[in-house]
Amino acid sequence: MHPHPIQKKNIILGVTGSIAAYKAADLASKLAQSGAIVNVVLTEAAAKFIAPLTFQSVTGEPAYSDADLWGADAHVLHIGLARKADALLIAPATANTLAKLAHGGADDLLSLTALALGTGADTPLLMIAPAMDAGMYTHAATQENVEILKRRGVVFVGPEAGHLASGLVAKGRMSEPADILGQLRYQFSRRGPLLGKHIVVTAGPTQEIIDPVRYLSNRSTGKQGYALAQAALDAGADVTLISGPVHLSPPGGATCVHVRTALEMEKAILSACQTADALIMAAAVADFRPAQAADQKIKKLGGAPALPLSANPDILAAVNQQRATTQKPNVVVGFAAETQSIIANAEDKMRRKGMNFIVANDVSAHDAGFAVETNRVTLLHTAGRKEELPLMSKAEIAAEVIERVITLLNPQENA
Ligand code: CTP
Repeated sequence: MHPHPIQKKNIILGVTGSIAAYKAADLASKLAQSGAIVNVVLTEAAAKFIAPLTFQSVTGEPAYSDADLWGADAHVLHIGLARKADALLIAPATANTLAKLAHGGADDLLSLTALALGTGADTPLLMIAPAMDAGMYTHAATQENVEILKRRGVVFVGPEAGHLASGLVAKGRMSEPADILGQLRYQFSRRGPLLGKHIVVTAGPTQEIIDPVRYLSNRSTGKQGYALAQAALDAGADVTLISGPVHLSPPGGATCVHVRTALEMEKAILSACQTADALIMAAAVADFRPAQAADQKIKKLGGAPALPLSANPDILAAVNQQRATTQKPNVVVGFAAETQSIIANAEDKMRRKGMNFIVANDVSAHDAGFAVETNRVTLLHTAGRKEELPLMSKAEIAAEVIERVITLLNPQENA
């Protein structure tokens, strides 16, 4: 199975003197939990906000500060760090650090290490998440430094607009650790077997409008679809995630199209599928919608209204129609949410809807299906092959599904 792109990677986490330094502890912890080997380098100012011991405790690896510059092995410390690094991630990065990096300043362990990374095609990834007060990020000096670094291939995450320590609301907040981690994961995934392939993943429920405050929907939370988008990204694909309303953040690097109704979802899917190599249809599309969406809130005074329904289009049928002329997507994967005769119903759906394989899901089980972390599925293939997968996390199921998509899209390499 495809490993987590960050697993066993040597990451140097540079932390500089910003109030956002406290968030770097969470970032270091998340990196370590993803299986990375994390060495932290703090600047003198960062060490005033947060102690090296905090990082040592969450990473289980040494954390360095400028005090280590004067130890016995000091003259080779930055070289050693740079040599083993797969990436240097600086989060938070102050305006001063950006200036030093842009112009080759090297007066502390972090800037020495950054310079020792070298430049050119084979150098480790340098990723920067700036954090500074209002006006400092938009200052021409900082902007020019950012441009210089971008030209050299440095990847920036954020900063975001929002509340700053000074009380101002402006662009300068460090991106959230989960977003920084998502971007790092994305950068490391760009060598996988789906590189250059476009995968469209749909996720979540649709909402069918009754009136301005009411809708019909279902229990889908989007977890399985979002996990599939992440697994496709991890394998190197360009991912379009078409999502109904859910409470999840899209994985870093995905192009996310937010939709509400089945009709909106159909339009977004048909458009994205024109260039898609594969479509993974994990969304729980509502089969029916109120025949007429009321313009105004329906009042209860008139008694319970009748709610005539219209059938929504079958999106996969529309995809197949378009596919007949465009030949895209090459591979279609569907899901079957069933509560009875699971295999027979799923097999029938697979054939009717032109799928390459279908993921059959018993949504009545307490540990599988909607709104739980785990799933138990059977993969049914067109040739009649059945694969019963054991109870797994939704991320693990996603990785299994993506493995099958890789095989279908690269038949000669897997022969
Ligand atoms: N699907 C679709 N368009 C719809 C409904 C479903 O493309 N209007 C897709 C789903 O995303 C899924 C597959 O078809 O990949 C099967 O969905 P499911 O709800 O299990 O099947 P239905 O065709 O809706 O059949 P039924 O509700 O009768 O079981």
